[in-house]
Amino acid sequence: MYIAIYPDIDTLSREAAQYIVRLASESIVMHGRFTIALSGGSTPRKLYSLLGSEPYRSQIDWALVEIFWSDERCVPPDSEDSNYRMARETLLSNIPIAAKQVHRMPADQPDRDVASQAYTLEMQGTFGTDGIPRFDLIQLGMGPEGHTASLFPHQPSLHEQQRLVMPVITPKPPPPRLTFTPPLLNAARHILFLVTGADKSDAVHAVLEGEYNPDEYPAQIVRPKDGEVTWMLDTAAAEKLRDRS
Ligand code: 6PG
Repeated sequence: MYIAIYPDIDTLSREAAQYIVRLASESIVMHGRFTIALSGGSTPRKLYSLLGSEPYRSQIDWALVEIFWSDERCVPPDSEDSNYRMARETLLSNIPIAAKQVHRMPADQPDRDVASQAYTLEMQGTFGTDGIPRFDLIQLGMGPEGHTASLFPHQPSLHEQQRLVMPVITPKPPPPRLTFTPPLLNAARHILFLVTGADKSDAVHAVLEGEYNPDEYPAQIVRPKDGEVTWMLDTAAAEKLRDRS
């Protein structure tokens, strides 16, 4: 696990953009494409805007990138609450990528179980597997109580071992969502957590330095068997870390 601390979200976002440019190049050299799952929330807005503008945009061969989402609210894709809409405004509308390579999570479909299964099949089709897709990168955020994706404390989703995507009802509005589950998250080659703000400092300390207790702090469930986890924090989010070396 790697932990990097930056003075502010702008610096953090530039570093994250450079990290993703580098990882995309490595993935394309290694196996001919780069598969990424985006998070939602507000923290990655600046990162996505950077990736959709120079100098970062032209450093990624978008023709070889497959974009997915690690969770989505059950709202229309043009809703202000839509993670897809945020990515479309900041990134997708500014990069040369074919629509078939942008895999929106169909969380607005009325039957959320059918939508979860359809997304799973779409992922497996893209990855050419009937097993667990292994993302090159899953980018995640974390809430002030330690949730990540739409995995929240004390919810059954934390113990899901079969499904790769599932419907949940979350305490963070809007409640109905679809989310990646632990087996899918933990198959990733790389995980990048982006966490900023003093309101998350208690959870950052508990997740990174506390007892392993994912029911209380779901971000702890993300421990890929054969993958690398990187945390990019600003100084406010890191202020309660004992070991800041
Ligand atoms: C979502 C996200 C969620 C988010 C955290 C942090 O759909 O809300 O996927 O897991 O990453 O809640 O959100 P902020 O970046 O807005 O603090």
